[in-house]
Amino acid sequence: MDMFVIQGGTRLRGEVKISGAKNAALPIMAACLLTNEECVIRSVPDLADTRHLITLLESLGARVRRDESDALHIKVEDESISLADYESVRRMRASICVLGPLLARRGKAEVSMPGGCAIGDRPINLHLRGMEALGAKIHLDGGNIITESQRLQGTDIFLGGPFGSTVLGTANVMTAACLAQGRTVIEATACEPEVIDLGDFLNSMGAKVSGHGTPRIIVEGVDELHGTDYEIIPDRIEAGTFMIAAAITNGELILKGCRTEHLMALIDRLNLIGVEIERIDKDDTVRVSSARRLNPVDITTQPYPGFPTDLQAQLMTLLCLADGNSIITEKIFPDRFMHTAELNRMGAMLRKEGPTVVVQGVRELIGAPVMASDLRASAALVLAGMVARGQTEVLRVYHIDRGYEHIERKLNPVGAQIERVKEND
Ligand code: EPZ
Repeated sequence: MDMFVIQGGTRLRGEVKISGAKNAALPIMAACLLTNEECVIRSVPDLADTRHLITLLESLGARVRRDESDALHIKVEDESISLADYESVRRMRASICVLGPLLARRGKAEVSMPGGCAIGDRPINLHLRGMEALGAKIHLDGGNIITESQRLQGTDIFLGGPFGSTVLGTANVMTAACLAQGRTVIEATACEPEVIDLGDFLNSMGAKVSGHGTPRIIVEGVDELHGTDYEIIPDRIEAGTFMIAAAITNGELILKGCRTEHLMALIDRLNLIGVEIERIDKDDTVRVSSARRLNPVDITTQPYPGFPTDLQAQLMTLLCLADGNSIITEKIFPDRFMHTAELNRMGAMLRKEGPTVVVQGVRELIGAPVMASDLRASAALVLAGMVARGQTEVLRVYHIDRGYEHIERKLNPVGAQIERVKEND
């Protein structure tokens, strides 16, 4: 396994290009199962997660290739297999996003029940509620969820859960409803930009989706969908991570392909902390810089447009160095705090009380060997290593490769000192 050896104390300065959004790419790639015509998807990032989904789509009869302009071409050639097995789902929870397209197009989907993961349980009860409402018969066999249906029937569905809306649950139900007979109204849907992107992608295939981006989505079912050529949105979580990287190193970064309208909740907090985000021209380019003195703030993660849970660990790291105490409450994944113990190893003063962490600001972080546990926690540890005194080793960086396209190749040219080495070297 790889680890990062990071020399702290350098200030980041320069320009970084934001990649396409992982969490838009995954459900959009899965939606290509809805047709046997070729779909071309542009700006799909080259990540462990997207490569993993390509393998799964190929096992489901799709031919996938990247062309010389880095666009992904997906064309289904064999629709006889409808199994997403345990190996697939165990390695990536988001494999569940093939459920809706498989059921809608092939009348059957067999998907392994996702187990838990480092950020908490990953139930799919809301996904299944949606499939059942559309007329699917569902049973559990050997850890696999088997859903079968003749043609799905449009209906009204309430998709809200105890933690609010579900992003991939919304993706699955919206996607399945595209080939259902009649109208489907989905209430309490996720409003994330990635859901909007998926709805726009489906419409580019000839679907009739409206209201995506609001808590009520309406889908008029159609008989067939055709191929398309589509460009996905930039990755707001990568952009937010790099905004925090500029702030924590007291540097100045120019981020190209950063849609500030997707990051209002983070920008709101960063402004209060003392970080300046300035749009420097029309095509999604921003300059990020920060004052030396950082103010403490309180954060509560919420469904979009609230503060994103996927930026909680990264902002916690910045707040470790604020002048005063901050309170961070996790309302989406209450256990998503595996990074706190690792940050405390670096001299942070974090105290977890249930779904809340009290962050007591300290003067500095000190380099140490730390362990990555999940995708965003590992990004937080890289941020910590860049600002800490001395050297930090971040182990198990395969977590970070799942969601950041060669992060050290983006950060080293603007001043970071991150070396990728084999853990047993
Ligand atoms: C998506 O996961 C993202 N992944 C996650 O990003 C992100 O953290 C999450 O949304 C929340 O924003 C992708 O888009 C690939 P949810 P998803 O269903 O859809 C509960 C990353 O770092 N719930 O919106 O799986 C669930 O337990 C990843 O890129 C149910 O109770 O998350 C959670 O508490 C990590 N029943 C809450 O809803 C269900 O059937 C939100 O989960 C489904 C979810």
